[in-house]
Amino acid sequence: MTAPETMSAPPSLLEALLFYVEAGCDEAIGEVPVDRTTLPPPSKAAPMAGLHKPASAVGGPATPRQPGFQAPPSMPRPAVANPAMVSAQAAESAASRAAAACRTVAELHEAIRAFEGCALKATATNTVIARGNPEAPLMIIGEAPGRDEDAQGAPFVGESGQLLDRMLKAIGRDESNVYISNVIFWRPPGNRDPSSEEILACKPFIERLIELVQPKVIACAGKHAAATLLGTTQGITRTRGRWHEYRRGDLVIPAMPLLHPAYLLRQPGVKREAWRDMLTLAAKLDEIAP
Ligand code: URA
Repeated sequence: MTAPETMSAPPSLLEALLFYVEAGCDEAIGEVPVDRTTLPPPSKAAPMAGLHKPASAVGGPATPRQPGFQAPPSMPRPAVANPAMVSAQAAESAASRAAAACRTVAELHEAIRAFEGCALKATATNTVIARGNPEAPLMIIGEAPGRDEDAQGAPFVGESGQLLDRMLKAIGRDESNVYISNVIFWRPPGNRDPSSEEILACKPFIERLIELVQPKVIACAGKHAAATLLGTTQGITRTRGRWHEYRRGDLVIPAMPLLHPAYLLRQPGVKREAWRDMLTLAAKLDEIAP
């Protein structure tokens, strides 16, 4: 790899930068660089201090342990919680309360924009919620905003969104009769997969959005949307094109996992299957929402 002549950075720095961009590290998430190759000075504190405290620290003076000693079940034990999971659950509860309080789609959009429980918001430019017609019979739900969506504040507006629009047009659909959203409302840096904590924090909102929109048919684009909303555990190439049910309370909506348009851009050979799925989707819409 050689640096273009117009660039003045030493080739090694430029190569390192290109390596990071190719690896998906294309966003700065802190103001100050951190050199993670420098080891911290050895600490005098007990190892893992704060997470797993020794019994003497949590339960008074230590009792000398006998070989094979087992605390009897009645003896109080320190609660060891996974802090990430605790905060994910707290975020999910806050999201559930905020979502349940919304009576309209517009209120829900406001509540999502105001929500501070998803760490992705800190690195995102925009909150990306939905585009299209909230009264539409078809709701398409993807994974998470990418770079273009983050910049423009609307879902599926980049290259994969343009392909999605062409696929929809082929079955006579556009923004006037489709509503498009994602299970995550902020861009994961470098387009990495969303974590389970991030999905958990956003899920109450997408569930409430479905409840308020009440589409006749749902299409989940990609494995994350299908797993989050339909509970599918198999890969998308197995679940795509088959009817599932989105169920929540009294709501039961036919739902189909689709190959994600970004996958179709990378693997154009599978467009035939994607086209078949679009026809199945169109037939269902003709049947239940002519
Ligand atoms: N991919 C998605 O899943 N959603 C978007 O909005 C854009 C790309």
